[in-house]
Amino acid sequence: MTTPPSTLPTLRGADTFFPTLEEIPQQFRLPQPILQQEYLVNGELRPWQGATQDVFSPIHIRSGDQSKPLHIGHYPIVGSEEAREALDAAVSAYDNGRGEWPTMSIRERIDCMEHFIAKMLERKNEVVLLLMWEIGKSHADSVKEFDRTIQYIYDTIDSLKDLDRTSSRFRIEQGVIGQIRRSSLGVVLCMGPFNYPLNETYTMLIPALLMGNTILFKPPKHGTLLHYPLLSAFQECFPKGVMNTVYGRGAQVIPELMQSGKVNVLTLIGSSRVADQLKKMHPKSNRLKAVLGWNAKNAAIVLDNADLDFTIKECVLGTLSFNGQRCTAIKIIWVHRSIAETFLQKFSAAISELKAGMPWSPGVALTPLPEPGKPAYIAECLADAHAHGARIINEEQGGATLHSFVSPAVVYPVTPSMKLYREEQFGPVIPVVPFDDIEEPIQYIISSDHGQQVSIFATHPQDIADLVDPLVNQVSRVNINAQCQRGPDTFPFTGRKDSAEGTLSVEDALRAFSIRTLVATKDTPANKAIVNTIVETHSSKFLSTKFIF
Ligand code: G3H
Repeated sequence: MTTPPSTLPTLRGADTFFPTLEEIPQQFRLPQPILQQEYLVNGELRPWQGATQDVFSPIHIRSGDQSKPLHIGHYPIVGSEEAREALDAAVSAYDNGRGEWPTMSIRERIDCMEHFIAKMLERKNEVVLLLMWEIGKSHADSVKEFDRTIQYIYDTIDSLKDLDRTSSRFRIEQGVIGQIRRSSLGVVLCMGPFNYPLNETYTMLIPALLMGNTILFKPPKHGTLLHYPLLSAFQECFPKGVMNTVYGRGAQVIPELMQSGKVNVLTLIGSSRVADQLKKMHPKSNRLKAVLGWNAKNAAIVLDNADLDFTIKECVLGTLSFNGQRCTAIKIIWVHRSIAETFLQKFSAAISELKAGMPWSPGVALTPLPEPGKPAYIAECLADAHAHGARIINEEQGGATLHSFVSPAVVYPVTPSMKLYREEQFGPVIPVVPFDDIEEPIQYIISSDHGQQVSIFATHPQDIADLVDPLVNQVSRVNINAQCQRGPDTFPFTGRKDSAEGTLSVEDALRAFSIRTLVATKDTPANKAIVNTIVETHSSKFLSTKFIF
């Protein structure tokens, strides 16, 4: 029996799903809207009198029988002139590598960063609250995102110390003495995604800063206000011009920055289409380094010998953590036809146990979606799947929508003619495809535009081994009996095809935002004496054997 899209179920408890103002627990209320009228450029928080972008929460507020999204603030929409000022500030702070920041010793840069961590921690509650209100992330996950970011900074500092220690010695090869270190690259344009607006942004921004680069930071479209409480920390902890913000509409301000040819590194986590366009705008693309994380359509492959209870737990987490809005989410499940019925039944039952509600509700798993167009897009995918012969398996609540909230829908059997087969839905819809021959999911992955990760669920070692070998040449991480994920952050995070360029892990990111550079001389008594004098008198920061503890 099929479920016509026009009769998607009504959300259970719809009348009271969104809260009244009074129902919001005191500690999770925003004291007042965040009316941001300033932006950080060249060490100054400059006042802004121009146009602003209103920010509405995905959380609607109920009043009588009406409900509307809560206005939670606004931020500046700067224009070309301000973007140019930000660029000029970053270029002059870098000063061709002669600026205060790029020439500072690693120890001094770490001191600035440790100071920043302390300042950041002071603003934790505000940032967590804004994560909840701006993107609808649960309180537990918002805290996790903040803490994970702090840990990432600490780990990056440790990794930088290690890197510096191994560079603090000379090498002598074939009559040449050399000291090899990593140097900064210049001006980094950094753009983060809305789903991990703090964490993913900082996994680029922090290593880029620590390596001595100067930054142009364009906050994401959603998840913008949460950066505001941290601007004064950047202002206080780093020399002027090292950190500069570019608020507003990307399409208006970013092209000009790229066309200037003064951006040395483009780092963004977002869409490959945008990254491709931006790279082409640079007048000398050979001079532009790119560190990019993009779209993904990670598949889970469930074999007939999988431990189903365990598999279902991981598939629920993999498909629906943060409502499926993770680049690493499992976005399609291939199940062996012989177990498909049982899988669907148990999977739907597990999903029906997930708690839906507001980000502050204890134990909540499913929350409102921040992208205003997402519920309509999901409805379109469901209608398209229905028209092509699939049905919503969890028909009681699957696809039930109320304003910004969509109840997860399990769609089966998904075929190549449906949008859900290839499109990255980035939301609470789970396409399931039955297969008879393991070659079917393998061919799906081979012919995909994406190549980030895959999850294999099985118990027979040989079956797993037979899949691992073809798949490691298609994606960048093969998970065995585990959902797809980025963490631990010390592991490499990358992808093939349209899924990434470059690798981000604590260690890799430091390399990505720097270049190996060496000072070399012929091994003669006169040169040795010169180098010794420089080292002993500490007259160079590069040519130095100082050891960071
Ligand atoms: O959106 C992609 C995030 O990096 C996901 O991180 O898989 O560790 O939750 P995670």
